[in-house]
Amino acid sequence: MQTVDYLRISLIDRCNFRCHYCMPSGEELNYLLQESLLTKEEIITLLKEVFIPLGFKKFRLTGGEPLLRPDIVEIVEAINSLPETEDLAISSNAFLLEKFAQPLYEAGLRRINISLDSLNPENFDSIIGNNGRSRWQQTWNGILKAHQVGFDPLKLNVVVIPGVNDHEILDLAALTLERNWHVRFIEFMPIGNSELYSDRAWIPSEEIRQDIRNNWGLETSAVAGNGPADVFQIPGAKGTLGFISQMSECFCDNCNRMRLSADGWLRPCLLNEMGQIDLKTSLRNHPDFNQMRDRVRHILEIKPEINFKERNNGTESGTYTRTMSQIGG
Ligand code: GTP
Ligand code: 5AD
Ligand code: SF4
Repeated sequence: MQTVDYLRISLIDRCNFRCHYCMPSGEELNYLLQESLLTKEEIITLLKEVFIPLGFKKFRLTGGEPLLRPDIVEIVEAINSLPETEDLAISSNAFLLEKFAQPLYEAGLRRINISLDSLNPENFDSIIGNNGRSRWQQTWNGILKAHQVGFDPLKLNVVVIPGVNDHEILDLAALTLERNWHVRFIEFMPIGNSELYSDRAWIPSEEIRQDIRNNWGLETSAVAGNGPADVFQIPGAKGTLGFISQMSECFCDNCNRMRLSADGWLRPCLLNEMGQIDLKTSLRNHPDFNQMRDRVRHILEIKPEINFKERNNGTESGTYTRTMSQIGG
């Protein structure tokens, strides 16, 4: 059985973008109140008293957009200085990264995954739901700053949606020719927005690989990931290409992760809402850490049964009460 030692910690449910696939428009989201968010101290207590004793040692900070958390640098510093932390990373949209890349690096962060769905400013703005001044350049500057500061690996996540950005696949793949970046193509998951793109909202990774193969050739990469991505490389390229294929090729048997929401709910599986437990209420009411560890240990034991299994011809069958922006991807 796969060891579960990786916790994705959502720091905030708000985001400064409104990507249609992640935060569906039309319905107003009920944002969490400030007092519902776990504080830095509470997160560290949960890690020290509950998760680390149960073997967790890899942590990723997500959102919404984690850089909107005013204490983001302090949180990174605190988690990084726990002796048991083996890996600490962030998933961000890079809009605020020009300002934060250096302080985050100084706080000990080395790994950052950035969403970038388009290289075309107009298309980018339309995907992120922006109708004001273009946000593409500031995002790109954030990515360049992270590169300059020395983040390695620097991963760029592209959620590929037919008719939206599939015509940019080769341009995005070409970013790896001269830079040691990791560009990852992700099959769209219809979480909390299944009605948005009707029946064919995702493109199988193999089709994308074939386009790239036809253009440049493609080989498997020696750089293996520690997540769900299959890693390839254009021959001679400095960077790599990853494919995250949860719709066409189930990788749930190898699942090594759980998620902690910004309001302290532990979620054993991204694609299944079963088995969630509220850790914040226990933490705020005379916490009994033994009992909290037991509850999480139980979730770990039953996780293989909770892990997503049913695929409905590639269409997820579940209903989701939280959007991706609330879960953190
Ligand atoms: P690395 O450790 O750098 O490989 O990170 P990662 O790929 O796990 O994290 P990231 O936040 O960059 O997520 C990339 C994509 O993978 C997103 O679309 C996530 O929703 C998806 N993803 C991450 N974890 C899971 C998971 O447990 N299950 C599924 N189905 N998709 C996931
Ligand atoms: N399907 C696949 N990936 C998604 N992400 C957000 N929503 C979805 C979705 N519905 C990705 C973001 C980000 C990562 C954390 O999750 O693009 O890169
Ligand atoms: Fe793990 Fe669930 Fe994601 Fe599958 S869908 S990889 S079981 S979290």
